[in-house]
Amino acid sequence: MRTLLILATLLLAAPSAQAASGTAAGLRIAQQCKVCHSIGVRGASPKPEAPPFRTLAQKYPLENLQESLVEGIIVGHAEGMPRVKLTPRQAQDFLRYLAKIQRK
Ligand code: HEC
Repeated sequence: MRTLLILATLLLAAPSAQAASGTAAGLRIAQQCKVCHSIGVRGASPKPEAPPFRTLAQKYPLENLQESLVEGIIVGHAEGMPRVKLTPRQAQDFLRYLAKIQRK
């Protein structure tokens, strides 16, 4: 009985725990980008040409980004932006973080 209760608690807790760790993992990925991009809810990008991450959704739906991130982002101004390639899991975590900071 006790085991069952623990199991049930674990099952219920799992999705939110996963979401939280996803966001944290996403923030860790974003931190690799902060030499150029503003990655938080405020502040200008260190590199003025690099869009602050909180504004990315204004340009296109965030879901579109997921594919680009996994395939390796290609942006117009190739020298400014390094090629970014994430695993599907990393892209998902990163997107979750992005969704959290978007300014609508
Ligand atoms: C060396 C500086 C630099 C780093 C590091 C960097 N970026 Fe960028 N990024 C840029 C610049 C500059 C642009 C704007 C390029 C343009 O407009 O074509 C850009 C644009 C982007 C865009 C918008 C693309 C578009 O089509 O509008 C995304 C998304 C992006 N970066 C994601 C990332 C991610 C994710 C990381 C870290 C994993 C990262 N960048 C790291 C400089 C950087």
